[in-house]
Amino acid sequence: MALRHLTSINDLTNEEIERIFLLAEDFLEDLGDRDLPARIGRSVDACAGAVMATVFYEPSTRTRLSFESAMCRLGGKVISSADPAASSTAKGETLADTARIVSAYADVIVLRHPLEGAARLAAQYSTVPVINGGDGAHEHPTQALCDLFTIQREKGALQNLNVALFGDLKNSRTIHSLAYALARFGANLLLMPAPGMELPGSVEHRLHGEFDYAPLNLGGNLPDGVTKVYGLNDAVVNSAIDVLYLTRFQKERWTDTKRHYPVVNRELVAAPCFRQSLVMHALPRAGELDPAFDSDPRAAYFRQASYGVPIRMALISLLLNHGAGGSLERFVGGFRATARSTLHKSGTLCSNFNCISHVEGRVHRERLAIKPERPRCLYCDHEILQSPGE
Ligand code: NCD
Repeated sequence: MALRHLTSINDLTNEEIERIFLLAEDFLEDLGDRDLPARIGRSVDACAGAVMATVFYEPSTRTRLSFESAMCRLGGKVISSADPAASSTAKGETLADTARIVSAYADVIVLRHPLEGAARLAAQYSTVPVINGGDGAHEHPTQALCDLFTIQREKGALQNLNVALFGDLKNSRTIHSLAYALARFGANLLLMPAPGMELPGSVEHRLHGEFDYAPLNLGGNLPDGVTKVYGLNDAVVNSAIDVLYLTRFQKERWTDTKRHYPVVNRELVAAPCFRQSLVMHALPRAGELDPAFDSDPRAAYFRQASYGVPIRMALISLLLNHGAGGSLERFVGGFRATARSTLHKSGTLCSNFNCISHVEGRVHRERLAIKPERPRCLYCDHEILQSPGE
């Protein structure tokens, strides 16, 4: 059976995502009250005897603990390396070697790494499935699964919803994975970037080129305050925004951290366009979302975080082919081995200097991807540069 990894939300088909949602629903206890955070209704032994390794090179609370909780509730066990200073990385070990080694110790690896494309590089060397728990500013596919699940559960559907993405769209990996998924499920994307923090060209190009999709950009000068939001775009203000999705300023990915960043408060969401909005945030928040809003029924972010366990239970059990209650062969058989599936050419450089290929480039440069119409990096999806003399 083909080995499958989850390095990008685009590694999953829409049908596979729906299959994950169905199974996640099955793991949830029906508390009969949508306003309460989710509870896991049952633990199962779908992954009894299996081991998950969580290898985290960046801080995490929700992603790592919900993955670990999910594996425990599936009857599996967890080994964890959450402090790079205490691992062989501090001695100079490459990610390729780490992936080889850890895949001999575990049945599935969850990796978080500051460099873009790290999960794909690890997937090339791992003999077990690698799940991307966030790679730099690139993608965070399992967060997108939690986000989509929340929207579908609370709004009943994804198609034709108006979803506004607000804040640091440039460096927020959760936004990038979510934007692809929403486009694929037929939602309308409204971009509300903080000044200078627009969606990266690489993401926009993929939305256009691969999904034939053009988000509505509300401009890069989103100011604070309701009155100016009104002035932004009458068409949007007059049409309901179904979801307002916020992200914090990703300060660890900027060199100049003293930037103006808009705040979402009760005054802002009093605008008529937000009357029915689900307000979402991957968390943590860092001042951009006023806690005074927490008691508002539109605040969905704590429920959104709580779905992390059932969603990840569903993903792990499907990925390990230990599906709880039913044959999952079609699903597992459908996974694509992305890291090996693209054309290669030597002598190319990724234009993104935060890409893993620049660190482990000598070994991996020949694996950079070329696609004739728009060459992009196999690891981080940015455009590639030709080497001098090519
Ligand atoms: C996000 C991340 O790490 O990208 N957090 C998370 O996984 N829930 C969002 C963020 O850090 O802003």
